[in-house]
Amino acid sequence: NKVVLAYSGGLDTSVIVPWLRENYGCEVVCFTADVGQGVMEMDGLEKKAKASGASQLVVKDLKEEFVRDYIFPCLRAGAVYERKYLLGTSMARPVIAKAMVDVSKEVGADAVSHGCTGKGNDQVRFELTFFALNPELKVVAPWREWEIQGREDAIEYARKHNIPVPVSKRSIYSRDRNLWHLSHEGDVLEDPANEPKKDMYMLTIDPEDAPNQPEYVEIGIVSGLPVSVNGKEKTPASLLSELNQIGGRHGIGRIDMVENRLVGMKSRGVYETPGGTILHTAARELESLTLDRETIQMKDMIALKYAELVYAGRWFDPLRESMDAFMEKITETTTGSVLLKLYKGSVTVASRRSPNSLYREDISSFENGSIYNQADAAGFIQLYGLPMRVRAMLKEGV
Ligand code: ARG
Ligand code: SIN
Repeated sequence: NKVVLAYSGGLDTSVIVPWLRENYGCEVVCFTADVGQGVMEMDGLEKKAKASGASQLVVKDLKEEFVRDYIFPCLRAGAVYERKYLLGTSMARPVIAKAMVDVSKEVGADAVSHGCTGKGNDQVRFELTFFALNPELKVVAPWREWEIQGREDAIEYARKHNIPVPVSKRSIYSRDRNLWHLSHEGDVLEDPANEPKKDMYMLTIDPEDAPNQPEYVEIGIVSGLPVSVNGKEKTPASLLSELNQIGGRHGIGRIDMVENRLVGMKSRGVYETPGGTILHTAARELESLTLDRETIQMKDMIALKYAELVYAGRWFDPLRESMDAFMEKITETTTGSVLLKLYKGSVTVASRRSPNSLYREDISSFENGSIYNQADAAGFIQLYGLPMRVRAMLKEGV
């Protein structure tokens, strides 16, 4: 039997390789998805995987798929978890897990394994995706089974099994990086009263150190999906990475929050989402031209549930897919451009345009127009306010 392991090359997943061979007697195929975690993490991986005892390493570049099929739908939906979290890790797990299911078919594996702890969300996201796409796969989650408690145990296990201990100096934080975001958890962050240290951040400059000159950036959107930056058309992944550069140098998109994990506990996390913050601002702004009041209200209500499902690992739930069909339909006409001004950590809207704009200057202007007749308002207010009047009459005995 054969198992496909979600492999990063870090200490934990390096130790999982010999552990699986020892405890399950299986051949281990390592799998690494490139979701934009950066070249550093991808360097010399195959050698490392084999040194740990893997029979092979499979690497797949999922960047365009990740942005096009996972990130952009969430952006279009306006999915935000607990008012702040832009779901960077939550969106990455289903695309990685789906690729693992594909790889398991390609190499003839009957099991999959991951290095998520038993205390987090990620285990749920991986495993619900496995369930949805191949219910026959066996799942092994070493962190929920083994004796290894922490870094020291893991190093000792590696030594005993003659596995090279990854030399890269490990950070004190638990981090997860992809094209959309970088998350930081653990260490001093575990006390919500502690302010994050200045040197923790990696994708964004401290807003206090950002340029004193603001920078304008124009986002082009077609049917709710971003297509261009400053008039240049780009693929989803290259568009996002350009915006990460631009946003990063102005300190855009830092989020510090205490969130509720699916497993019930609260957890404190800090996120850097520079490009994503720019894109969310642009997409919502364009909707202010293209969607009417009730449509925006309904869309925002559904977005809340949509975010919850994504956070909880239910990407392949027909409920999310149906909501996505709603989002696609409702944003059909959300096409146009938004000009944003970036300055020391803030994104402000400078202008918005759409060929499908519902805004009409000839109606809305303070200068009189011919379509809207002010005299109509008198009757409208009488009837709209009728329940108010009836209640007041009752109270006054009129
Ligand atoms: N709390 C965030 C989430 O649940 C980030 C998790 C980060 N995961 C990690 N393996 N470091 O989406
Ligand atoms: C983990 O526990 O593996 C990371 C954190 C999370 O999944 O929420």
